[in-house]
Amino acid sequence: MTLTPQIPPPRNQHDIARFEPTTQDAVILGIESSCDETAAAVLRRTKTGAIHLLSSIIASQDKHHRPFGGVVPEIAARAHLSVIETIIERAVTEAKIEYSDLSAIAATSGPGLIGGVITGLLSAKGLALSLNIPLIAVNHLEGHALSPNLSAPCPFPYLLLLVSGGHTQLLSVSGIGQYTKLGSTVDDAAGEAFDKSAKVMGLGFPGGPKIEQMAKSGRPDAFDLPRPFYKKEHANFSFSGLKTAVARAYERSDKSDTARADLSASFQQTICDVLKDRTKTAMHLFKQQLNSTESEIAPYRFVVAGGVAANKAIREALDQLCQEEGFNLMAPPLKFCTDNAAMIALAGAERLALGHTDSLDVKARPRWPLDTFAAHNNPSSGSGKNGPKS
Ligand code: KG4
Ligand code: ZN
Repeated sequence: MTLTPQIPPPRNQHDIARFEPTTQDAVILGIESSCDETAAAVLRRTKTGAIHLLSSIIASQDKHHRPFGGVVPEIAARAHLSVIETIIERAVTEAKIEYSDLSAIAATSGPGLIGGVITGLLSAKGLALSLNIPLIAVNHLEGHALSPNLSAPCPFPYLLLLVSGGHTQLLSVSGIGQYTKLGSTVDDAAGEAFDKSAKVMGLGFPGGPKIEQMAKSGRPDAFDLPRPFYKKEHANFSFSGLKTAVARAYERSDKSDTARADLSASFQQTICDVLKDRTKTAMHLFKQQLNSTESEIAPYRFVVAGGVAANKAIREALDQLCQEEGFNLMAPPLKFCTDNAAMIALAGAERLALGHTDSLDVKARPRWPLDTFAAHNNPSSGSGKNGPKS
């Protein structure tokens, strides 16, 4: 694993893909099933690129996984299978459309828990085949990356912090399918640290919202927790030591509500500090790689997306950083930070507008790095525990 910052060469203006105008409106059904939410959504994209979300249905599996304090893959796969048809039906009905109005079906085809991904992708293939319309295999991470566009247009290029239960990475986004990784976690994801720390303190699952709630009544400086890679020149993260430190601190505490609140507040403050510090480094890397035309488009854009982006303290910390560094913060509405199918339908609509569709034999991929360089250099990265962590 290299910790050297990757600074790609400056791009030419004509390399930058923008949202494309098309000759007609498109109505897309999106399907998401990569982790513990079964979701379907219908979205209309007009020929000028305007986005209208017609429905978004999300069935959470939280109650199935709560007793285990984390997502259990076998339980997740079975739960997706039992509700997916109903969820799709509801999305189509609430959108007030007929199946025959659909232009294409978009489904998450990785990365994620393979049982769930296969369930969603097979449903999408069946619908695409029977309706004789295109299938679009969407990278779940691209869904998160484009999700701010569900509320307002977010033009390229931008710096992206993708921070969820399975991923923590910083990427430069220059168009649909054009991602350059600037940094990522070398061990756990930030959301994983939230979930595991909450489990240690007996706060329940999913841990992010529980810790955010507990932190409101705690002191952020009560515990001194580790901040790996702080002030380093690269933009990578490490969270496994933090999770262990929380476990030790809790073990040594009196395990009272006050201790839990103080530890939650200190943990959240540490995550805020780390995300701010690593993002600041990535902002400098991002500015270095812009070409001369792009450099003039200040303020630059910074997007935070993924489940952890629902945390208000984290948003505020990042907003403050943006003001200091000359960036504008763009984020999806809170309900579209965690997994949903609206973002998958959106990514599918943008891919369709560019003429990118997939054949019906496209495979589900447990691992699927978003950055163009890694994807091109690891064509066999679709399976196996030795593939690059997405
Ligand atoms: O994006 P997401 O739904 O699934 C993945 O793609 O991983 O993210 C789920 C993660 C969980 O780890 C959850 O604890 C975290 O997002 N999360 C939060 C908050 N809401 C969800 N973390 C911190 N604060 C929150 N309010
Ligand atoms: Zn996600």
